[in-house]
Parts: sequence; structure tokens; C-alpha cells
Amino acid sequence: MTASSHPAHRTLGVGLISVGWMGRLHSKAYESIRFAYPEATFRPRLVVAADAVQANADYAVDVLGYERSTLDYRDVLADPEVDVVSICAPNFLHREFALAAAEAGKPFWIEKPTGRNAEETADIVGAAAAAGLVTGVGFTYRQAPAIQHAKRLVRDGALGEITNVKVSLLADYSADPLGAFTWRYETARAGSGVLGDLLSHGVDLASQIVGEADSVTALTQTVIGERPVPQHATVGHQLASDDDPKRAVENEDYASLLVRFRDSKAVGFFEASRVAVGPRSDYSIEVFGTEGSLKWTFARMNELEVCLGRGGDTHGYTTVLAGPGDGDYSHFQPGAGISMSFDDLKTIEAYQFLQSVVTGEQVAPSVADALAAARVVEAAEASAADGAWHRVTRD
Ligand SMILES: NC(=O)c1ccc[n+]([C@@H]2O[C@H](COP(=O)([O-])OP(=O)(O)OC[C@H]3O[C@@H](n4cnc5c(N)ncnc54)[C@H](O)[C@@H]3O)[C@@H](O)[C@H]2O)c1
Repeated sequence: MTASSHPAHRTLGVGLISVGWMGRLHSKAYESIRFAYPEATFRPRLVVAADAVQANADYAVDVLGYERSTLDYRDVLADPEVDVVSICAPNFLHREFALAAAEAGKPFWIEKPTGRNAEETADIVGAAAAAGLVTGVGFTYRQAPAIQHAKRLVRDGALGEITNVKVSLLADYSADPLGAFTWRYETARAGSGVLGDLLSHGVDLASQIVGEADSVTALTQTVIGERPVPQHATVGHQLASDDDPKRAVENEDYASLLVRFRDSKAVGFFEASRVAVGPRSDYSIEVFGTEGSLKWTFARMNELEVCLGRGGDTHGYTTVLAGPGDGDYSHFQPGAGISMSFDDLKTIEAYQFLQSVVTGEQVAPSVADALAAARVVEAAEASAADGAWHRVTRD
């Protein structure tokens, strides 16, 4: 037997609320920390999961490896063996669950858009602050090593002065008219549609690279007016049957925004759709400056297209492959150019959240970042309603 060279670990008991797509992925991410971050001074332990649907609660124990499950989220928060909580519920439950977690003094990693609207997100920010808790938020794409590379290039001035940005989030997850009517299409349970669901990711990406939005004008559209209501429990995006009863979609499938940035001459065009036929999950950001430009797209998330300087026979984009030195890449692959995955980005998120909990220093994206994005969505909704430019609220 040889003595381990790794430090003693503090165990962090994990409680999960909602065992849908994100709940399952949060669980996998916690489990992956020990492989990606063997040097971490903590080890998550999957203690208890709650879901309102018995089959999903059972899945947490049978498949994900939680020690126990419950149908009531309050059991998770009351459990003395739970140190941290993942909140992966539909948007309409975020506020209730986050405020209860704060009341119980449990730091939480919550999914975006973190409430149905900016008011609810602000309540969550206030509760976490009052309880002195660090938080995590599922702004997954900012963790991509190529995005971290882009951030560094812009911060170092390699692109010169930033003039404009184009952010595009085109998905087809709602493109099939038989896509089941779920909480996502109901204002009372989701809040906005593609604005909160996808555009919030784009706003966060732009805030990382270019800065915060100052004012926006927007238009929105609902393309598929009604959807079949499934007669069984669904997870993620599933189809229903044409025979199922139909219900009217209450929020937008498509949004486009013109944006002015704060403390900058930069302007932007943002577009988001959940009904785009063709692009599957085509999330991209292009940044243009006086000395160069760059382009990143999620479908090729380990690549960054970069053009520095102008003119010459070889003028054009160079494909830079992410590698060690870019964000947390080296925790996943030893050499440059080896692909990482969406799930890896979630592992980075999980690690940053728990690292924030252990050190007390907020290194993960926080609920305050979620509020910044929610306020852009709020301004976009106001503009879509009256056609005017709207300032983005700030504290
Ligand atoms: N970061 C990302 O990239 C990303 C991707 C997808 C979804 N999300 C966000 O994650 C959240 C969840 O989305 P999802 O795709 O996992 O949804 P989902 O529909 O797959 O899962 C939701 C789960 O919540 C459960 N639930 C409903 N009411 C409950 C209650 N009272 N108590 C406990 N559980 C309850 C459902 O049974 C279901 O298992 C949303 O806010 C969504 O916007 C983020």
C-alpha cells in the first residue's frame, strides 16, 4: 500500500430538487468532479433527491445513485446531511425553492433563467444575499474553453475597439408542431419563452466578452400557436400525439433584439428561436473590432475562428483549437484539439459552485448574473410590447 498523494476530502452532501434533464445532468456533473478535479478538497455525496413524479424520484435512487428520494422538496432542505442543493425545477418553482433553500441556509446551484421574470430573480438574489450564501447558475456556455480564449483576446485588446456583436441562438427543440405542450409554453409556469430560455444564455455570453447591455429594442413572435397536451409525464423536450387535446402557446418562439452596450460604443444584434428548422442547437457569438474579429459556435464549441489584423494575402479567419491554458480545458484533456462536450461544461459549473461553497468566494456564475440577464429579457419584453427602446434596469 502506498500513501495517497491527494489531500483529505471534505464531503459535501448534495440534495437535488427535480430529476428532469437538468437534474440528471447536475448529478452526473457532481459525480464527474473527482475525475476532472482530483485535487479538489471536497467530494460531493449524492444524498437525497426530490421530484413530484414518483418515477423520477425512483430514477434518482435506481440510476443516479442518490441514497434516498422523496416527493416533497422540503425533505431535501430539512435533511441535516444535505450541505448544498441543486434546483432544477421548471421556472415557476425557482423562486419558491430558492427562497426556501436560502431560509434553510443551504447554498444552491439553480438553473437559468432563475425565476419567471426579473422580479422573481431579484427576490432570489435578495434571499441569497440576506442568508450570506454563494450560488451557482446554469450559464453553461460561458464555461467553454474557447469562450474563455475569446474573452482573453478581447480583454487584451487583440481585436482593437469592439464595434459590434452578433449573438444567435437558433434551436429546433420546438420546431415540431407535435412538440408536447409543457410548462415551457405557459406564461404562468415559464414566464417568457425563448427570451428566458435561450436568449438569457446569449446575454450572459455577451456580458462575458463584450460587457453589459445598456438598452434594447426588440420584436417577438409566436410561430406555432397551439400544441398537443401530453397525457403522460414528460422530461425535457418530447413529442405528444396529434390525438391529444390542444392548448394555445402563451409565449414567444422567436425574438430579435438590437442592443446598445454600457460604457462602450459597441452595438449588437441578438436573435433567438426555438422553432428554427435546420439549425439544431446553433448557439453562436461573433465579435467585431477595429483590429480583428472572432466567431464561436456551440456545435463546434472547441474551435474559435479568429481574424487579427487586416489586409495581406492570407487575410481571413484562422481556426484556433481550444487547448490547455484555455479555461478549464486541461482538467478534461491533456493536449490541444481534443473535443470536450456539453456535459463537461456542466462539470465545470458543478466544480465552480462547490469551490465557491468551500472557499466562500463566488467563482461560479451567480444569481446576480441571472438577474442581469433577466433585466435584459424584461427590457426586451417591454420593447416588444410598445416598439420603443428600453433601458436595462440596474441597481
Ligand atoms: N443550462 C442549460 O443549458 C439548461 C438546459 C435545459 C434546461 N435548463 C433549465 O433547467 C430547468 C429545468 O429544465 P429541464 O429541461 O430539466 O426540465 P424537465 O421538464 O426535463 O424537468 C423538470 C422536472 O421538474 C419536476 N418537477 C415538477 N414539479 C416539481 C415539484 N413540485 N417538486 C419537484 N420536482 C418537480 C418534473 O417532474 C421534472 O422531473 C429550467 O429552468 C430550464 O430553463 C437549463
